[in-house]
Amino acid sequence: MDKEYEPLFETVPLPNGAELRNRFVLAPLTHVTSNDDGTASDAEVEYLEKRAQDAGLALSAATNVTDLGKSFPGQPSIAHESDIESQRRVAHALKKNGAKAILQIHHGGVQALPRLTPNGDSAGPSPMTIQSFDETEAHNAREISEDEIQETIKAFGEATRRAIEAGFDGVEIHGANHYIIHQFVSPHFNQRTDQWGEDRYLFAMEIVDEVVRTAAHYADENFIIGYRFSPDEPQNPGINMEITEEFLGKLTEHPLDYLHASLGQLHSETRIGKYQGIERIELLHKWIDGRMPLVGIGSIFTPDEALEGIESGNIELLALGRALLLDHNFINKIKDGKTDEIINTFDPDRTDKHELPDPLWQQLNKGFYPLPRKDSQKQ
Ligand SMILES: Cc1cc2nc3c(=O)[nH]c(=O)nc-3n(C[C@H](O)[C@H](O)[C@H](O)COP(=O)(O)O)c2cc1C
Repeated sequence: MDKEYEPLFETVPLPNGAELRNRFVLAPLTHVTSNDDGTASDAEVEYLEKRAQDAGLALSAATNVTDLGKSFPGQPSIAHESDIESQRRVAHALKKNGAKAILQIHHGGVQALPRLTPNGDSAGPSPMTIQSFDETEAHNAREISEDEIQETIKAFGEATRRAIEAGFDGVEIHGANHYIIHQFVSPHFNQRTDQWGEDRYLFAMEIVDEVVRTAAHYADENFIIGYRFSPDEPQNPGINMEITEEFLGKLTEHPLDYLHASLGQLHSETRIGKYQGIERIELLHKWIDGRMPLVGIGSIFTPDEALEGIESGNIELLALGRALLLDHNFINKIKDGKTDEIINTFDPDRTDKHELPDPLWQQLNKGFYPLPRKDSQKQ
């Protein structure tokens, strides 16, 4: 390995005593490849094993904790006891080559897709008409009831217990990307006037408490609990950096092992408010103040960009999404001094299809997610 990249391969201790072998995180990546009942498919297991092989921390795709929360075709499920056996295969694939295997636990809230949920239902903090994932038309979502809120909080705990039984090293609470936990925090999504609207952090904190309690009961102390959040959203009113500052104050009081910022660009700047123009990641790192590691992410496609991210001092861990989709050997090519062999553009003519499962390759090929492409004229 070129000596300059050594900082990327330093070990990272987590607050609970677990140690990660390097600073790379496989980002959670929905692959639309699980079986229709949410059990793991062979193609999914093979794909996950390759993407996780060299990471320190390897996250699964968003995995739904209740049937009502299902938000993607081919989404993995941890909503039932019968899912444990299948999730054991996922945990094994992620940790087989030395990464810590983390299950991302998820509920879509108003973004759950009626065509995938029981009775075509979709529910979140407040009623909303919303177009979600691959929908061509918007759907109506209703307000989730008090009883259902309590059930959902419990479902995150049950999902954690199942993840422990399935052999995961930890869970990541998916509080980002406009799904249910994010929705409760957001003034855009949450117009409730009950306690869940008066204290918009309450739902998130109840889930954190439930997951922490469950892990303390069923797992050993090295079980990892992470939390992913979106620091802001485009809508105004919506989540902004002032809200996130307050929210991080609460999150960091809990025994979490890392926080994971969901960012499209690692160095993106705050758009509005008193922190306008300052890099979000710099603010987040300052507010967390060393209490737990911060995972950064966002449009990192080269080893130098990865190194620069770590050397900025604003993140302890760097997650890679599209870079690992394009080349599952991205990390070991750095380790082996073969950085010139890294594939960092999507090439629809590759016969190996980037070693992606077909449903995910199809999505990338049709431009569902922005990607650097070899045939950039097709974008
Ligand atoms: C194909 C694809 C699927 C994704 N699925 C998830 C997911 O399941 N959970 C999640 O939190 N984020 C998901 N994201 C967001 C990524 O984790 C990541 O934040 C985003 O791709 C930016 O990182 P990158 O620039 O390294 O790709 C997904 C992104 C892509 C491209």
